[in-house]
Amino acid sequence: MIIISGSASPKLSAQVASLLGAELVSAEIRHFPDGEIYVRTDAELRRKPVAVIQSTCPPQNDNLIELLLLLDAAKDLGAKRIIAVVPYLAYSRQDKRFKPGEAISLRTISKLISQSGAEEVITVDIHQEETLGNFTIPAFNQTAMPLIGRYLRGLDLKDPVIIGADQGSIKRATRVALELGAEHYFLEKRRISPENVVVYPKDMNVQGRDVVMVDDIVSTGGTIIGAAKMLQQQGAHDVYVACAHPVLAGNAAQRLKDAGIKQIIATDTIEKDVSVVSVAPLIAELLK
Ligand code: R5P
Repeated sequence: MIIISGSASPKLSAQVASLLGAELVSAEIRHFPDGEIYVRTDAELRRKPVAVIQSTCPPQNDNLIELLLLLDAAKDLGAKRIIAVVPYLAYSRQDKRFKPGEAISLRTISKLISQSGAEEVITVDIHQEETLGNFTIPAFNQTAMPLIGRYLRGLDLKDPVIIGADQGSIKRATRVALELGAEHYFLEKRRISPENVVVYPKDMNVQGRDVVMVDDIVSTGGTIIGAAKMLQQQGAHDVYVACAHPVLAGNAAQRLKDAGIKQIIATDTIEKDVSVVSVAPLIAELLK
């Protein structure tokens, strides 16, 4: 198998290739002066299985176009079986029409990837698993939560409590808690503006204990900051954040730090300083 690394996932691609003993190809990718994207590979792809690994993290529109160009080029160059590995799938939260007239963005993105030359798609911790049905090619989702749980085991946490940031994170918090043998809860929230979230108080026993907030995505940090305030008022010791996808838009990392978050623990679906857990073994297992 040949692994083609997109520009958003160079380290993850290298790790997956090394786990599989596969050839790693870094495509030539650049921007024209007007912003259009150019991709080229001189690898021999004819009749070979190819996986293109490209996260669609910010700048998501550029990364998405790059992914589509790489997949279509691989098909055009005669690859035998093409798999799109999209560790973080952009637009996955706009998976329905919340207000009349809205685009169902995830459906559009799924259609584009399905028609790009890929025969299968692999992603990690998609926002809602049932939305994989938007793809018209076989689509697989892996969760990084057990890996995150194992990482947390090494942190020597004080009587830890795992808390799902909202109802959508119940399953994720449960998976992390299972690895730690820890108690878990979930919160209810309401978003007032893109960055401001109200989290409803819940009767939980967090007094003097380390708390790990679990979510799929941390974007503005609003959800976590809202929850952290409540947990600190209830006497939590240290508050940690664990997520699959550290989008960390704008100054979110600083805002989380200012809110007293002890550590952000994330995966390399988006390659950042906080990406201390690698999803490479999950992806390599699926590619096998
Ligand atoms: C939303 O339902 C997601 O699961 C996350 O809770 C959300 O994306 C977090 O966004 P932010 O960091 O902007 O609050």
